[in-house]
This record gives sequence, structure tokens and C-alpha cells, in this order.
Amino acid sequence: MSHLFSPLTVKSVTLRNRIGVAPMCQYQAIDGIAQAWHMTQLGSKAVGGAGLVITEATAVSPEGRITPSCMGLWNEMQVAALRPITDFIKSQGAVPGVQLAHAGRKGSCAVPWLGGQHLTDTQGGWDIMGPADQPFDDDGVRLWKAPKHMQQDDIEQVQDEFVAATQRALKAGYELLEIHCAHGYLLHSFLSPLVNTRTDYYGGNLKNRARMLLETTAKMRAVWPQELPFVVRLSMTDWVQGGLSVEDNIEVASWLKALGVDMIDCSAGGATPAARSAINGGIAQQVGMAADLRQASGLMSMAVGEITQAQQAEDIIAHQQADIVLLARAMLHDPYWPTHAAKELGVEMSQVMPPLHQLFIGR
Ligand SMILES: Cc1cc2nc3c(=O)[nH]c(=O)nc-3n(C[C@H](O)[C@H](O)[C@H](O)COP(=O)(O)O)c2cc1C
Repeated sequence: MSHLFSPLTVKSVTLRNRIGVAPMCQYQAIDGIAQAWHMTQLGSKAVGGAGLVITEATAVSPEGRITPSCMGLWNEMQVAALRPITDFIKSQGAVPGVQLAHAGRKGSCAVPWLGGQHLTDTQGGWDIMGPADQPFDDDGVRLWKAPKHMQQDDIEQVQDEFVAATQRALKAGYELLEIHCAHGYLLHSFLSPLVNTRTDYYGGNLKNRARMLLETTAKMRAVWPQELPFVVRLSMTDWVQGGLSVEDNIEVASWLKALGVDMIDCSAGGATPAARSAINGGIAQQVGMAADLRQASGLMSMAVGEITQAQQAEDIIAHQQADIVLLARAMLHDPYWPTHAAKELGVEMSQVMPPLHQLFIGR
């Protein structure tokens, strides 16, 4: 029996297997609205056999986008465009999840293939904000915008935006909600001592730095149905001396657990240029962090990072290092990754294939 292909029930939601598509920015939205591209990208992964398909970092406000082409959930048109996509994902036997995000001081950027640099207002950029007023970088070469040091009313406004986006996510048909608190975006930047130099109630010790995340989570959990799964993505380490450690994150996870969070998605890095990038070196170590988190906190965990092989994914679940494996680049490469993994592991194809595929190519 395959562990990877065993179902998982979280609250009222049952995943057909333990394979999830990691959130991946597509930079193809117009005014935050999903396009045919998103149906194709997300829908193909559901046809390909994934148990869970998580929509990319979806901004809670226009200013919360990383680029002008990022997805959003700040208005009803965005809800209407996402609904057919979540309906299709469900029709194929997968569970649709969404990652809600605010880019903070890493917002107002060009899309990566055009350089990813900060955009001026005339280039279509906007004012950015963060826990402090230090720019992400200052290499003297490119434009690095300084964020606004957020005041109490800015904090409350962003929290309200997260809550409103949570309600819209439900209307859009999502069944699993993930908060993006990783990779140096707004919530992670509050948590990390490398970025948060505040001296008020939201800065200083770990509990104070976690306050923004914990308050936001509590407000979102109150409007997200109790019977639906609620996940937080954390950067389990800042990869930099003096930054967040795995132990810090395990402590934060215990506070999140008390607020009704069901699962932690264990990523890493991204707070500062010195921190190793979220998708470069060290990434394979994230699986071990998901295992440590799971063991220490009693929460379910998602492992992500260089998971590419069927047997590797099977072993992660079999050895109880994580409850779900998330794949990003391997899924870009092959939306049928779960189908191919099922074949390799000798799993009954009806679980991962639509009837037409079973009939003609299922053997
Ligand atoms: C194209 C692309 C877009 C990504 N966008 C997001 C995102 O929206 N939110 C997020 O938390 N991580 C994002 N990531 C990181 C992935 O979710 C994942 O953590 C990382 O790629 C490691 O997994 P992998 O080794 O399977 O690619 C992105 C990665 C890629 C390749």
C-alpha cells in the first residue's frame, strides 16, 4: 500500500492523496483577475492527479501585490473569475486551496523575467509598507524603494483586508486557506528580527514580533469555517545568524495551533538578500524542518523543496516527516507528476486519472 496515495482527512475535507501543488506566482493576472492561463495551470494539475492544488500568493489589496500581474482577492470580479477554476478543480477530484498574501516591502516590482526591480509610480508601481522603513536591499545599482513604517491604523487596515479576502476566498469556492508568512513578505517581515526593528508592541521579543501574524490569524480564523483547513506557510529559518531559527518557528507554531491553525507549510528564507533565497541552496533541508515541526508541535506539516521523485515523496509520508508533500517546479515541468508517480509506485490508476484517460491509457 502506498502512503503517498493514501487519503488524508483534515477537518471536513478529504484529499485523495498526499500530493499538493505548491503556491506559484504566475504573473498573468490582469487587475488581480484570473485569466485562461490560471484555469490551464491550476486545472491541469487537478487533471494530473494532485490531491491539493494551491493557488499562488493572492494579494489582499492592490498594494499587497508583488507585481502588477499578481492575482488578487480584493473585489468581487476577482471572486467571479476564480469560481469556475475552483469548480473545475473539484470536478476533477482535487481540493482547491489558496494562499493569501501581502508583499510588504517586496511589493511594487517588475515581473521576474523583466528583472524584478522596484517600479516607480510612472512605471506602474505604488508605495510600499513594512514593519520598518529600511528597503529590502541597497546595492547602489538598482532602485530599492523604502517602505512606509506602518502605523497602528495601517496595521489594522491590512488585517481587515486579510479578513475580507478570507471571506471572498470562501465565496470563490476554496476549501483550504493558507496565510503567506514566508519569503520576506509582510507577515514574515514582522516576524523576522532581521527586518522588524520596531520598539512598540509589534517589535522586540518573539511574542511581540509574532503579534501581527497572530492577530491576523485570529481574525481570519474567526471568519473561515471551523470545519475547513487553515494553514500557515512559515520561513522555518532565515538562514542568517541573528535571524529566525527553527526553534523560534516551532514556538510560533504552538501559538498558531492555539488559534485553530491545522497545519504548517514549512518553507524557508527570503527575509533579506543575505538570507538564502527561498528557491535556492539549502532548500532540500526544509523536509527535515517539516519533520521537526510536526514532531515538536503536534501539528500537521507540509514538506516542500526539491521533492521530485515518486519514491522520495513516498518515503517522506511513510516516515511521517510530513502529512502532505508540496511540489512546485516539478509540477511546472510535469502536471501529470502524480499520475506518473502512481504508475511507478504500482497504485490503482482510477485514483488519479479521469475516466477517459483510464480507458485509453490507464494500463
Ligand atoms: C514560479 C514559482 C512561483 C512561486 N510562487 C510562490 C508563491 O506564490 N508563494 C509561495 O509561498 N511560494 C512560491 N514559490 C515557492 C514554491 O512554492 C516552493 O516553495 C519552492 O519552489 C520550492 O519547491 P520546489 O523545489 O518543488 O520548486 C514559487 C516558486 C516558483 C518556482
